[in-house]
Amino acid sequence: MLRTLRSVLRFRPVQLKAADRRLSTVSSVADYRRLARRRLPRGVFDYVDGGAEDELSMRRNCEAFRRLEFRPRVLCDVGAIDTTTTLLGRHLPLPVVLAPTGFTRIATPGGELDVARAAARAGLPYTLSTMATRSIEEVAGVSGGPKWFQVYVWRDRGLVKDLLARAATAGYEAIVITVDTAVLGRRERDVRHGFTLPPKIGVRTLIDGALHPGWTWDFVRAEPITFANVTGTGKADGSSAVTLASYINRQFDPSLSWRDLEWFRAEWSGPVVLKGVQTVDDARIAAEAGIEAIALSNHGGRQLDGAPPPLELVSEVADAVGDRTEVICDGGVRRGSDIVKAVALGARACMIGRAYLYGLAAAGERGVDGVLNMLATDVERTMALCGHRSVAELGPHLVRWRP
Ligand code: FNR
Repeated sequence: MLRTLRSVLRFRPVQLKAADRRLSTVSSVADYRRLARRRLPRGVFDYVDGGAEDELSMRRNCEAFRRLEFRPRVLCDVGAIDTTTTLLGRHLPLPVVLAPTGFTRIATPGGELDVARAAARAGLPYTLSTMATRSIEEVAGVSGGPKWFQVYVWRDRGLVKDLLARAATAGYEAIVITVDTAVLGRRERDVRHGFTLPPKIGVRTLIDGALHPGWTWDFVRAEPITFANVTGTGKADGSSAVTLASYINRQFDPSLSWRDLEWFRAEWSGPVVLKGVQTVDDARIAAEAGIEAIALSNHGGRQLDGAPPPLELVSEVADAVGDRTEVICDGGVRRGSDIVKAVALGARACMIGRAYLYGLAAAGERGVDGVLNMLATDVERTMALCGHRSVAELGPHLVRWRP
């Protein structure tokens, strides 16, 4: 009996650091999400995890990937798999871009710096949000990797002009104009929690914080969180608590229209990505306007509930404009196989948002590394199991919608 026991008993090495212990148990983005849920106070987790109204679009973004299945080929000599691609003229190891997410320091004190460093290590573009809690220059200071800057259009165009000039000086390669946020979507989890940025400390927050001591300890030791890109510009920078809805509805310009693209062309000489396109008609207008890439996106289901899942638009949009503009699929990506599916339908790349935020919230920069590495190996393995050796070989023949 002892010999049998000895042959089967295997103990994992004892992990002394809490982050190591947490990371030793994860095997999917869903696992990172579970860890994030445990570490973050409820209101903070819901800010990251939630969507608008009934969260139909948010759920459908993920479900769309499940409705698509592969038609794998066998005996294809998949000894060497090449997951590289090009996007906006840049060679990338994987068809993936890290989407802009505002207020990232709510997850860890490093926030955007942690994500930017991990993205640079993976060789993937990181998109810094206008609503970031680390500035354009701070992020450029830690990342020599490809960087894009996401623009929300303020009523004060002078401020936008300055942000674009700062991004150009700091070496950002492209701007991403988000066009699905004329006003802020109604995120009911945030409304219910009375969630503000930064979180207001009331009785409920105190209890929530006490139940999540690791996050709270990090939060109170770090410098205060502000909208770092507008600090010092005379604009409210979030140093006193605001709800995101009132902030955005006061500061951003809802009269933005296609005509404004000319203004951007005059102010920005690099490539432009339009993020938040949701119909073939708008994709056509964007292509005719010479936009270099469009991100099909419903903002991860955080804006218009009932907006279509981006994956369901990819084929039609790629057929209509794929020869003139690059198509990015943004929303619902949780696995490498999701990326392979979107690319097979005609996307040039996918953007990921919550996937990396879960990693960040679970284990900081190493959590983001973990998610990016996992997606990379997932893509490679999925391509091998599908009998496809390169991104160029992926095409609509590889997938079909389940009835
Ligand atoms: C976002 N998103 C977003 N988009 C944007 O253009 N500017 C921003 O500041 C933000 N902020 C933001 C915060 C958080 C917490 C989340 C989850 C998302 C939307 C983001 O760029 C992307 O479109 C979605 O996250 C994609 O969906 P998935 O990958 O999260 O399912």
